[in-house]
Amino acid sequence: MNTAISEPLVERCERVLSEAYSTRTLIGLSGQPTDVFPTGMTKEAGDALMKLVADERAGGFLEIGLGLGLSSLFLSLGVLQHHKSFEGLSLDPFQASGWDSVGIETIRRAGLDRHVRVEQEYSEFALPRLCGAGARFDFIFVDGGHLFDNVFVDVFYSIRLARPGSLIVLDDRWMPAVRRAAAFFVNNLGLIDESTPQGTPGHRFVILRVPHTITQRKWDHHVEF
Ligand SMILES: C[S@@+](CC[C@H](N)C(=O)[O-])C[C@H]1O[C@@H](n2cnc3c(N)ncnc32)[C@H](O)[C@@H]1O
Repeated sequence: MNTAISEPLVERCERVLSEAYSTRTLIGLSGQPTDVFPTGMTKEAGDALMKLVADERAGGFLEIGLGLGLSSLFLSLGVLQHHKSFEGLSLDPFQASGWDSVGIETIRRAGLDRHVRVEQEYSEFALPRLCGAGARFDFIFVDGGHLFDNVFVDVFYSIRLARPGSLIVLDDRWMPAVRRAAAFFVNNLGLIDESTPQGTPGHRFVILRVPHTITQRKWDHHVEF
């Protein structure tokens, strides 16, 4: 690790996170505070996400659902454990209209704006465009719209954007819509479910590994999920 470049960035990210969790607020573009919870990720979940990224030695990430920017900071800290520079991309159509641009401000205050690009676009429109452009990501975090069809579409395109053998991690495994969408891809496309048991730090995630070879299906293939 090149400490001259990455240490100040790491410290800055950690300071922003520490302030957010101690005050339980983050400041948006208007200068007004926004409550961290219930939208933002807990510190325990963030640490688990950071470890997943670091263990994969991911060199960048795609995030669907920037929100308050907390998960973006943990994803970045995970990458920075093994890489001095990186590119992340986070999608969220409601930053300006619904969130006072808190996520964008959080990324800026953490000094990550040179590394993490934010596109204020619906994932259902951005993801197929990224596929068409041949984009590939080492790690994908899905935390956007939580309806079944949102999650299904996000994972459908994420499989095409993920490097073979990499992880697609879905937040909020407690939600039936999230578990059911994941089950389709496990039962029908051969994604490997590496989710961890209740009581472990990463239990709130569905952790899917993209196999090197996706299951080839006949035209009438269907496995209940
Ligand atoms: C639970 S929040 C994400 C919280 C974030 N992970 C954090 O730690 O701060 C979900 C986010 O998904 C965004 N979202 C909803 N529908 C979306 C869509 N179709 N495409 C992309 N993002 C979407 C919302 O605006 C919201 O910011």
